[in-house]
Amino acid sequence: MAAAMPTTLLTPEPAMSPADALAALFTPEGRADPYPFYRVLRAHAPVLPVTDDLVLVTGYAELEQALRHPDLEVHDAAYNALHRPEIAHLPSIALFADSMLMGRSPDHERVRRLVAHAFTPRRLTALEASIERTARRLVARLAEALGDGGDADAMAHLAYPLPIHVIADLIGVPEQDREWFRPQVSALGKVMDPLLTPNQLMAADQAAERLLDYFAELVADRRRSPGDDLTSMLLNVRDTDEQRLSERELLTNLALLFVAGFETTAGLLGNALARVLTGGEGMAAVRTAAQAETFVEEVLRHDSPIQVTGRWAVCDTELAGVRLAAGTNAMLLLGAGNRDPGRFPQPDRFLPSRVTGRSLSFGRGAHYCLGAPLARREASVALRVCSELLPGLRAGGEATRGDWLTLRSYAELPLRLTTGSFTQAGRRLVESRRRPEL
Ligand code: HEM
Repeated sequence: MAAAMPTTLLTPEPAMSPADALAALFTPEGRADPYPFYRVLRAHAPVLPVTDDLVLVTGYAELEQALRHPDLEVHDAAYNALHRPEIAHLPSIALFADSMLMGRSPDHERVRRLVAHAFTPRRLTALEASIERTARRLVARLAEALGDGGDADAMAHLAYPLPIHVIADLIGVPEQDREWFRPQVSALGKVMDPLLTPNQLMAADQAAERLLDYFAELVADRRRSPGDDLTSMLLNVRDTDEQRLSERELLTNLALLFVAGFETTAGLLGNALARVLTGGEGMAAVRTAAQAETFVEEVLRHDSPIQVTGRWAVCDTELAGVRLAAGTNAMLLLGAGNRDPGRFPQPDRFLPSRVTGRSLSFGRGAHYCLGAPLARREASVALRVCSELLPGLRAGGEATRGDWLTLRSYAELPLRLTTGSFTQAGRRLVESRRRPEL
């Protein structure tokens, strides 16, 4: 496929047209390394009209403005009804439209405030012990799979299961059901990607129906016997009656938490592991909690798991001096803003010592990521635990990136262990896993 592409699409030069640079992002080469193409787009203009109803935003300051702009809204049910009625009713599209991610004021604030109870510092502290425990269990499993000198996939053994277990603990999904979630959540998440194929859309619809059925049963169960989890808590929220979540809001937002928190966090952990193992830093660079946290922060900026989000103009308006007619779509290239030299000097260099402020990877404004502290914690704990138990971890065979535009993540990340590089603590952990009672 790459050989058939015109070479102008593949060689990012300042003279490249915006349309070619945009088209390049949809090629395998562009997805493997979008950053040179972002640079071309930003050099043309940080807010760049490419058609009558599409602008690309690549500048840091302009992305911040767009995310906080009162006339730029998420692609909600009203947008779908008006601009894409043929798909508005599909289960996957309707699920997101009815969740807070695509919600508009005032419903958005009401729902977000209720769900945010799950992410208070107190609840996060309570989750910390389970993150640490799960990370240790999974790293021990990874070590077992690595054996003596073989390759094992860090995505399958660690990066994918960790966020599934953490969100499942949060929501109260029993252990035996968790394996089932991964393919469903993965299929549903694809609906967020501009590269979505008709088959993927069909799979996303099936997954949406299955997940909503699953959560309807879980909610019914928690009504009968409440537990110490988010589902029970949301059922029992004692705000005023009108402030309570409707059944549909409850179900769509439970599904949203899984989708929003799964492949994104897995992507972050995979990108961080790949960086630490191939960027010359080595596992010692993430040995302490503080080191792991700053490392994760720079991975978020340098190689964000979420590269793109979108808004639409609800009326004629302006963004950074560019006129937008009502109905215009704004493609917000967060990954490009994170490499804006006006905000981050030498933006292509990976420098965990940077103190130059926040990346755009969790968004801004009303829809700022609710799970940001959780994702940061999961990734930094997993890195630290790997460094502690498997200091001899090395990159293995060839890693493969997922075939997505929105999500920047590895599909497979083979690792290897140098002989004798397994700490005593790590060996004890693996041995303890082999005992029959565990
Ligand atoms: C590295 C991991 C993650 C990244 C990069 C990420 C990124 C984002 C971004 C960019 C947004 C804003 C989208 C927009 O404004 O259009 C968002 C929203 C959201 N995220 Fe995350 N996220 C991550 C992990 C999580 C986790 C772990 C959870 C929860 C378990 C979560 C839950 C949410 C929710 C509920 C929203 C919607 C908030 C709202 O609409 O008010 N995310 N996320």
